[in-house]
Amino acid sequence: TKDWNGADQVVIRSPRGASVRVSLHGGQVVSWRSERGEELLFTSSKAIFKPPKPMRGGIPICFPQFGNCGTLEQHGFARNRLWTIDDEAPPLNHTDNNCKASVDLLLKPSEDDLKCWPHCFEFRLRVSLSMDGDLSLVSRVRNVNGKPFSFSFAYHTYLSVSDISEVRIEGLETLDYLDNLSQRERFTEQGDAITFESEVDRVYVGSPSVIAVLDHEKKRTFIVRKEGLPDIVVWNPWDKKSKTMSDFGDEEYKQMLCVDAAAVERAITLKQGEEWTGKLELSAVASTNCSDH
Ligand code: BG6
Repeated sequence: TKDWNGADQVVIRSPRGASVRVSLHGGQVVSWRSERGEELLFTSSKAIFKPPKPMRGGIPICFPQFGNCGTLEQHGFARNRLWTIDDEAPPLNHTDNNCKASVDLLLKPSEDDLKCWPHCFEFRLRVSLSMDGDLSLVSRVRNVNGKPFSFSFAYHTYLSVSDISEVRIEGLETLDYLDNLSQRERFTEQGDAITFESEVDRVYVGSPSVIAVLDHEKKRTFIVRKEGLPDIVVWNPWDKKSKTMSDFGDEEYKQMLCVDAAAVERAITLKQGEEWTGKLELSAVASTNCSDH
């Protein structure tokens, strides 16, 4: 089912009451709630919901550039543009017995976008909820007409956590990462699950397609599944950086962790007529913490 909320946000609900809210500003998921009504994504109490910036939280789409290594504004322009509803999207596959509710959005470059990034693309985003309340985002970028172009990409996913010092990530052990805190220098992660005690801003390269973010205090685990996106960005600004962000509370770094399915280390290149697909699937499951006793 679909509910329309004003002109610029769409709410999708699963039959069992999970929901997701998507803003046409940025094609940004701004809320994802479980069947029990719990908010699973972080939104800053200081978030600004008005253009021209993306609001601080949810899942901003970083495209066609991740970060500030490039000629475009930080994280590219897609998160700051007004997307439209894609009326030509193919219907959902209802033979899938985990039948989904979804919304399809479309972004095409404006005249101004073409001046700073002269590539004719169509970006189709499908946001859907499964019967179980899992959230899935499928991005399809097509080179409609013209010379090959390259881009980087991230689903900049702000997970809501109880207390960052109680959180760990499993699945990135022993991987190489580029450290954004030291000019993307390359390091190798040691054997343990990743825990947090200071600012982190890393691109884990060539990561597995499934990783887990365990929130010990909440007894909740986020399962992050991805396709077509080789990297995982992990970001927490910690105390000092938080104070420099006007749309982020000084203490809010304790309640969030960005874990982004991304393509950063190697750009994606599309020739004329080619299409790329990048998928993210998020589930939130109750963890029993059996191993702790
Ligand atoms: C992260 C980057 O993904 O996004 C950080 O790795 C950056 O370097 C952060 O600070 C937030 O970016 P922005 O532009 O949304 O404030």
